[in-house]
Parts: sequence; structure tokens; C-alpha cells
Amino acid sequence: MSGTKGGGYLRLGVNIDHVATIRNARGNDHPDPVRAAKLAAEAGADGITAHLREDRRHIRDDDIARLMDEIGLPLNLEMAATPEMLAIALKHRPHACCIVPERREEVTTEGGLDAAGLHNHLRPIIEQLRDAGIRVSLFINADKRQLEAARSLGAPVVELHTGSYCDAVLERQSAKRDAEFARLVAAARDGAALGLEVHAGHGLTFDTVGPVAAIPELAELNIGHFLIGEAIFTGLAESIRIMRRAMDTARAGGQAILDRDAG
Ligand code: PXP
Repeated sequence: MSGTKGGGYLRLGVNIDHVATIRNARGNDHPDPVRAAKLAAEAGADGITAHLREDRRHIRDDDIARLMDEIGLPLNLEMAATPEMLAIALKHRPHACCIVPERREEVTTEGGLDAAGLHNHLRPIIEQLRDAGIRVSLFINADKRQLEAARSLGAPVVELHTGSYCDAVLERQSAKRDAEFARLVAAARDGAALGLEVHAGHGLTFDTVGPVAAIPELAELNIGHFLIGEAIFTGLAESIRIMRRAMDTARAGGQAILDRDAG
């Protein structure tokens, strides 16, 4: 920790799934998510995140191979806790694997992993990933029981699901927003006290990132859909640079709401 008001440096993992969503809409190779990952690296991303879903609706197997070969940044592979995904992770050995719950019919990852309820299923998977030198993260709701389960499972990292907080901001439900934010703050504190490295992500935008980035115990944010959508208007490098600036400003204890036109 640097001792700044908002904590130490906050890493930004850029999730490139939705570049692949657009590519797959036409079934050819454009736009290429690996090209987007290279651009993200130049624009200040600290890592690349990609979710290889069971139905391959966006990222495909060959994207993972190319990301491992062609990108200098650490790759965070989001995956369901299945034998198929475990085998793929062990083959490629990315820097990190974030285990997420996955249901085929969902539009996006709707809730956190039930690390407590799935303890016996997750334990051997986490052990094999750890034995392969992969940093394991569990994507969980901001809930102390889940943090304790992550700790007892030996996962060094948790990622807190920020979706409910972001939804409340979008829906202008201030009581829900405040309650969800308080849960994130408490979970970040509890997670750090348990010795876990705490990340956060899902649904973050320029309007929601500031308060989250200012939570001092957080070490990394993973952001995708909004950055890719905003890239339509500003270009990907610029959308990442604005997000990076918003995170840094909030982290330093400054104005969390950014002026998009400030340059
Ligand atoms: N973190 C995790 C674990 C996720 O599953 C996702 C969505 O793939 C994200 C972060 C990024 O969410 P968004 O695309 O809404 O920024």
C-alpha cells in the first residue's frame, strides 16, 4: 500500500469478450479480440480478462491460445468449474483463473459463485490450478460466508460482484445503491482481513467506477462491456484511458465523477 488516501495502485483488467461477441455476429475474424488486447495493453491495461464460456458465445478456444502467445500482459481466464475448463486452463497455464458460476441461459454472469455450498466440488479444481502455478480467484457476492469459504478453499484471490451496485445506480435506487455499496466496502475489508487479495468487477462504467475504485482494500478491477461499448464512440484506447484516469482520480481521494470532456 502506498499510503495514499484511496489505497495503493489499482490494476485494471480489460475484459475483451464483447469484441468477440461482435466478431461472432458475422462468423468471420473481424473484429479480432487479440488485436483489441494489444491495443488495451498500449492504452494502460494491466491485464487482459477473457471468459471462455461453455457455449463459446464470444471467446473461442483459439483466442485463448493466441492471447497466451501474443499478449505480453497477464491473462485472467474466467471459467466455470468443469472438467473441460480445468483441462483447458491446465493446458494453457494463464497467469490467473477466475472461477465463475455459469448457466447457459443467462445473458451474463448473474450472481456470484456459491463457494460455501460448492466446497467439495471446488476444492480439487482449485488445488490442481494452484499446483500448476495458476493464481485462483473466486467470483463471489459481497458476503462474509463466501469470503470465509474462499479462504478455507485456499483461493488467494476473490473478485466481488459489483453488478447489484451498478444496477442500483442505473435504476436510480439510492437506498439500494447505498446498501449494495456498503456490502462491497465491508466485504473488501473482511476479505483483506482474511488475507485474501480482493478484486471487483461486473457492470462498471464511468459513472459507477469512482466509489468502487476508492475502496482502499481493492487491488484490481475487471471491466469489459462498457469499455467495448464506449469504444464505438471514442475508440478503445480512449475509453480505457478515461477509465484509467477515473480510477486513479478516485483512488487518490479526488473527484470520483469524471468530466468526460476534460481531455
Ligand atoms: N468479472 C467477472 C468475473 C465477469 O464474469 C465479468 C463479465 O464477464 C466481468 C468482470 C466484466 O463485467 P462487464 O463486462 O460487465 O464489465
